[in-house]
Amino acid sequence: MANNSNLGAAKAAKNDEFYTQYADIQKEINAYLEYNPDTFRDKTVLLPCDDPEWSNFTRFFAQNFERLGLKRLISTSFAVESKKYKDYEPTLFETESPLFDADKTRIKGKIFELTRDTNGSGRIDLDDLEWHYLEGDGDFRSPEVCALRDQADTIVTNPPFSLFREFLAWIVEAGKQLLIIGNMNAITYKEVFPLIKENRLWLGATGFVSDMVFGVPKNTEVDPKDKAKAARLGYVGDFTRLGNSCWFTNIDHGRRHEPLKLMTMADNLKFSRHKDIREKGYPKYDNYDAIDVSHVDAIPSDYNGVMGVPITFLGKYCPEQFEIVEFRKGDDGKDLIYSNLNGGGYNPALLQNSRSSTSIPGIIKNAEGRINGSITYARITIRKRLKN
Ligand SMILES: C[S@@+](CC[C@H](N)C(=O)[O-])C[C@H]1O[C@@H](n2cnc3c(N)ncnc32)[C@H](O)[C@@H]1O
Repeated sequence: MANNSNLGAAKAAKNDEFYTQYADIQKEINAYLEYNPDTFRDKTVLLPCDDPEWSNFTRFFAQNFERLGLKRLISTSFAVESKKYKDYEPTLFETESPLFDADKTRIKGKIFELTRDTNGSGRIDLDDLEWHYLEGDGDFRSPEVCALRDQADTIVTNPPFSLFREFLAWIVEAGKQLLIIGNMNAITYKEVFPLIKENRLWLGATGFVSDMVFGVPKNTEVDPKDKAKAARLGYVGDFTRLGNSCWFTNIDHGRRHEPLKLMTMADNLKFSRHKDIREKGYPKYDNYDAIDVSHVDAIPSDYNGVMGVPITFLGKYCPEQFEIVEFRKGDDGKDLIYSNLNGGGYNPALLQNSRSSTSIPGIIKNAEGRINGSITYARITIRKRLKN
C-alpha cells in the first residue's frame, strides 16, 4: 500500500507529471507527414522537459529518425531534485552505463542525442542515443537548454502544465517551430489568444476535445472517473484521462485547410439538429455588433457579419474560411451579453412573434455562458472570409 508521504508528493506534483502516450504522438505526427512528408526533413528536433529514458517522445522520434529524415534529435530531462515529485530510482540504462555518477544522478539534468548509427546496426534508432549529464538541472530556462533551443528548428513536448505560458513564450521569442500539448483553456490566456488570432499558433491535427490518456507516477491520486475512462480506452494502471488537453502548433497540417460544411441561416432555422437554434435563432449581443451562434455546426454559411462562437470552433478552424475577430469582450470591455431573445431579429419567425410578445426577462446569457446561473462555453468572435 502506498505510504502517505508518497501520496502527498504525488498529489502536489499532479499538475506536472503526465506522460504522453506513444499512440497519441504517432497519430499527431502522422497527420503532419500526410500533409507534407518533408515536415521534419533535415530538421534538428529538441524534446525538452522529457525523461528520455522512458519518454514516448524520445522513443517515437528516435525510432522514426530515418523515416522523418531528421538531422539531429536532442532530448533533455529535468533533475529529480528540482521536480515537485521526487520519487525516483535511476534506470538500469543509467546505472549500468560507464557514465553513471551517483553524485549527479539526482541533481543534474540529462541530455540524449541522436545523429548517427553508433552501433553499426545499419540504421539510426533508439539504440544509437548518446547521453551525458547536463551542467545544470535541465530547467528549460537554463542557459544550456536555451542554447539547445537556439540550435533547434522544431521543439516538441508536453511541457509542465503549470509553466505553459512561460514555456510557449520561451519558444515564440526564439521564433521556432513548435508542437506542444497544453490545456484547452490556454486558448483564453491573454498571451495565447493574440497568437491564435494572428495565425501564428493553432491547434494540432488530432486529439482536440477528445480523450488523451497520460501516464502518471505510481500512487498519484487521480479522479476515479478519469482513471476508469482511461481503463475503458485500454490504459489500465497508472493512467489518467485529461479530456481537455490538446496540441498547440505552428506547423501546417491538412485539417486546418478543410472548410467546415455549413448550412445557410434559413436552413439552420428549419433543419438544425439543435433545438435552441430552431427555436431561438441567432440572438444579437447587447454590447457588440454580432450574433450569438451557440453550436459550431450551426454557423450560418451565408452570414457576413461577426458571430460569437464556442471556443471549440478552434478545433475546426480553417483560416481560408473564417477570420478571428476578437476574444469574448464587447465594446464596453465586458463579456458579450444578450438579454432579449426576441430583439435580435435573426429568426424571422421570432421577429413576427415579438410584435405581440415582450422580451423574456430573466434570461441573460453572457460569453462566460451564464444562463440563469448555469455555465456554458466562452465565445470567440469570427467573421466569414470573403473571397477577393
Ligand atoms: C507534463 S510532463 C511531460 C513529460 C514528457 N514530456 C511526456 O510527455 O511524457 C512535464 C515534465 O516537465 C518537468 N518539468 C517541470 N518543470 C520543469 C522545468 N522548469 N524545466 C524542465 N522540465 C520541467 C516535469 O517534472 C515533468 O516531468
